[in-house]
Amino acid sequence: MPDVLEKLVSLAKRRGFVFQSSEIYGGTGSVWDYGPLGVELKRNLQDRWWHAMVRARDDIEGLDSAILMHPRVWEASGHVTGFVDPLVDCRNCKRRFRADDPSIKGTPGSPDAQCPVCGAKGTLGEARQFNLMFKTFMGPVEDTAAVVYLRPETAQGTYVNFLNVQQSTRQKIPFGIAQIGKAFRNEITPGNFIFRTREFEQMEMQFFVEPGTDMEWFEKWRGWRMDWHRALGLAPDRLRYYDQREDELAHYARAASDIQFDFGGTLAFGELEGIHNRGAFDLTQHQQFSGKKLEYFDQPNNRRYVPYVVETACGPNRTLLALLVNGYREETVAGEDEGRTVLALHPSLAPIKAGVFPLVKKDGMPEMAHRIADDLRKSFPIFYDESGAIGRRYRRQDEVGTPYGITIDGQSVADGTVTIRDRDTLAQERVAADRLPDILRGRLAG
Ligand code: GAP
Repeated sequence: MPDVLEKLVSLAKRRGFVFQSSEIYGGTGSVWDYGPLGVELKRNLQDRWWHAMVRARDDIEGLDSAILMHPRVWEASGHVTGFVDPLVDCRNCKRRFRADDPSIKGTPGSPDAQCPVCGAKGTLGEARQFNLMFKTFMGPVEDTAAVVYLRPETAQGTYVNFLNVQQSTRQKIPFGIAQIGKAFRNEITPGNFIFRTREFEQMEMQFFVEPGTDMEWFEKWRGWRMDWHRALGLAPDRLRYYDQREDELAHYARAASDIQFDFGGTLAFGELEGIHNRGAFDLTQHQQFSGKKLEYFDQPNNRRYVPYVVETACGPNRTLLALLVNGYREETVAGEDEGRTVLALHPSLAPIKAGVFPLVKKDGMPEMAHRIADDLRKSFPIFYDESGAIGRRYRRQDEVGTPYGITIDGQSVADGTVTIRDRDTLAQERVAADRLPDILRGRLAG
């Protein structure tokens, strides 16, 4: 695990961003829970995406489709047959590996092949195809007729609702459908903290276009999505495109470009989002398997066609990890012995917007600080803290990315002014306490 990730795993647990699932039972493999600060950060990120994709545009509609779908959906989408990894089992230690795992010595299935974990020779079976979808049963009967899958992507819930959304909203092509929701994949090699997990979220948008205009829209979305990631404050030189070669494309894709972030260390550049030109693959498949037409009627030209789809598929968990890695800094502070750890999160994403601190616990300062905190809390997540030296209280908030610190001192009680400290510049400004809501609103919008 890259060095900074190790530090972040510890900070995330200590400060309530991310906990291991079922930790008191020893943990569940590659599943994570988001604590009080993590859930705020993730929600802010998802709200930002929803605002940019749905609310700020008139050509994209929102959707929240169910995780459990008709099992034929996954036959039509190609996931039952195609969403597989070749795996090998060790008969001795019962562990399972990807067949192309570079730590396996020899050819799996042959007597010389050696298990990379227990070291036994000749115990690795031949490669078998392993489907990555989680299976469960619907209803009280556990037989093959009742099998359903936990969805491995949100996109299929959008395709099967294409006409419901288009007809209920009277959208005209080109238009899109966006949704945020859970997806599940029984990943064989999960890891790197929340980078690759078995339960995760997706923020996906399917944009339906006229065939022939698909590459034009693909290029537009490729650019707009990179702009969105940059606007989160991710360093431009840590972001790049990876355009997939023809032999790397998923079974549904005509073209695909990934937006990658440099996580550093051994993880290096990893995918945050995929932009895919899926052509007419999905809608055509669903037409065939359901027997229902999924065509668009182009009234002015009096013709019907199956639209092409340009998809943007982003993972909020990975983007959140990128924000933590990008923002994590350990630095010295001029004139102070102790250094500080800072999470330089974009103020609009920070879980807590301001810390409110009475300088000392007397002389009317806590009372005034409580009044200010209660008033600000009507509009912003605020943290009130009166324990310990003021420097330590600043540090505790710097470490979780709180952009502003509001201090109430002796002068505050006398003249109604407070100081507001900026997390990044450390600059302190004295302002009238009754202007704080407007000041915070202005700075957070900036
Ligand atoms: N509908 C297309 C699709 O699902 P994908 O590239 O497989 O495309 C999209 O997934 C995004 O979902 C990825 O870029 C990544 O951010 C996120 N993602 C995929 N698998 C993940 C996993 N196991 N853990 C966390 N995030 C994952």
